[in-house]
Amino acid sequence: MTELLDQGAFLAARAWCAEAPVEVHEELPSTNDRLAQLAEEGAPEGTLVVAGSQTAGRGRHGRSWSSPEGGLYFSFLLRPDEAMLRRLAPTLVGGLAVCQALDGFTPEETRPQLKWPNDVLLDGRKVAGVLGEMTRGSDGYRLVLGLGINLAAVEFPDDVSEIATSVAATGACPEPTAFLAAFFESFTGLYRSVERGGGALILAQASARMPSLGKPIRLHLANESVTGIFSGLSATGGLVLESEDGTQRNVHLAGEVEAVRPR
Ligand code: BTN
Repeated sequence: MTELLDQGAFLAARAWCAEAPVEVHEELPSTNDRLAQLAEEGAPEGTLVVAGSQTAGRGRHGRSWSSPEGGLYFSFLLRPDEAMLRRLAPTLVGGLAVCQALDGFTPEETRPQLKWPNDVLLDGRKVAGVLGEMTRGSDGYRLVLGLGINLAAVEFPDDVSEIATSVAATGACPEPTAFLAAFFESFTGLYRSVERGGGALILAQASARMPSLGKPIRLHLANESVTGIFSGLSATGGLVLESEDGTQRNVHLAGEVEAVRPR
């Protein structure tokens, strides 16, 4: 993992914040936690923490994220302003950037897909997840974007073994450095485009990778489950759910989508 620091291609891909520090660890409890600490100490936008494994990796909804060796675990820092917070959610941009990066490595017939809001699927199974954690300090907003990608073949815990996969299962096995370079190349372009007001095009790209769009779904929220048609994405990347009576509800980046059979 430490060879990451020497890779010119990787450094070039994150040229948008080339001055920002990079930390590479063999193992950490959680890259999100380490980066939150650096952010608190004033780390600049683009600061990156990478780990070869995690002992206390966290996922969405308070779940744990199994993080054995063979996966790639990293977090990087964004410092969005108020205007940026009203634009397309960076977590969704992160999921799309993972898809675009994987396009360059996986076979053509296994096109990476997105499960709203930002799970990345290969052959219908989850290969990567994004966890965004935002805090506000005296220095403004700090958004820690943490990504976990099952690159090499890894053993999954029993509860997810049926629904998880790795990039290696497609026959590809990109080096972590090569994947990171491809990811940051995509993310940088997409994020800069959102900053310039180009969110609509990116929404269209994300929508094209969401197989459940336009179909009946059950959306599991914190305290309820609601059914309806997943009719589209809002400007910030929220899920627009249309119920039987035609009313629309916009759910902003919370909940879990389950496909249901049409009646
Ligand atoms: C999900 O639940 O889908 C999101 C998983 C995010 C996991 C990554 S691994 C790197 C970073 N550090 C963590 O503790 N979590 C995120």
